[in-house]
Amino acid sequence: MALALVALVVVSICPGSFHGVSAVSVSVTATPNINPSPAPLSTAAREFLESHNQARAQVGVAPLIWSENLANATSRLVRYQRINKGCEFANLTSGKYGANQSWGSGGVAVTPRMAVDSWVNEKNYYHHSNNSCEPNHMCGVYTQVVWRKSLELGCGQAFCNKDQATLTICFYNPPGNYVGESPY
Ligand SMILES: *[C@@H]1O[C@H](CO)[C@@H](O)[C@H](O)[C@H]1NC(C)=O
Ligand SMILES: *[C@@H]1O[C@H](CO)[C@@H](O)[C@H](O)[C@H]1NC(C)=O
Ligand SMILES: *[C@@H]1O[C@H](CO)[C@@H](O)[C@H](O)[C@H]1NC(C)=O
Repeated sequence: MALALVALVVVSICPGSFHGVSAVSVSVTATPNINPSPAPLSTAAREFLESHNQARAQVGVAPLIWSENLANATSRLVRYQRINKGCEFANLTSGKYGANQSWGSGGVAVTPRMAVDSWVNEKNYYHHSNNSCEPNHMCGVYTQVVWRKSLELGCGQAFCNKDQATLTICFYNPPGNYVGESPY
């Protein structure tokens, strides 16, 4: 019953097209992770990674690896949005990574899997045969999840008491969703 109150909104950004709502300009920096012996992943990181990699496996695309650099960059960004913007969507238009974000409210914290599932659900409106999306849908959030040339993932979440809102942001490196290019 509580779950039914959750409203997930999905926004997608990519180098060639913009589908979303933006709130603020934020500069985010991170460098590729070359650490050969990363620390064990948190429960949230594993859930983000598993839900992405399940969607990728379904279409024969190799798994993403977790990037602490990207995760730190998303953590800084969602913290900024929480402190300054009441967990509104971030302005991702000038970022150098691919990015997906989701906003959910209704008194139930949005889990990593719920956020990723909201992106993957756009698969229902995506036609791989001609790389097109049905009108009024944002398949870009799905195609970034399964973008073959994206190799690294990092995600962060913040919760705001106002609206009981959860903001989830994931970064992808290299970015996906080049216009005219098929994800896989
Ligand atoms: C988002 O950032 C870009 C680039 O910094 C800027 O041009 C744009 O106006 C911003 N959008 C909003 C809604 O603030
Ligand atoms: C990420 O943040 C953690 C905690 O602040 C820090 O210990 C770690 O060195 C950072 N990693 C990278 C690659 O920036
Ligand atoms: C793409 O293909 C689907 C069916 O495979 C079709 O319904 C849709 O109209 C096509 N879209 C475009 C833009 O050609």
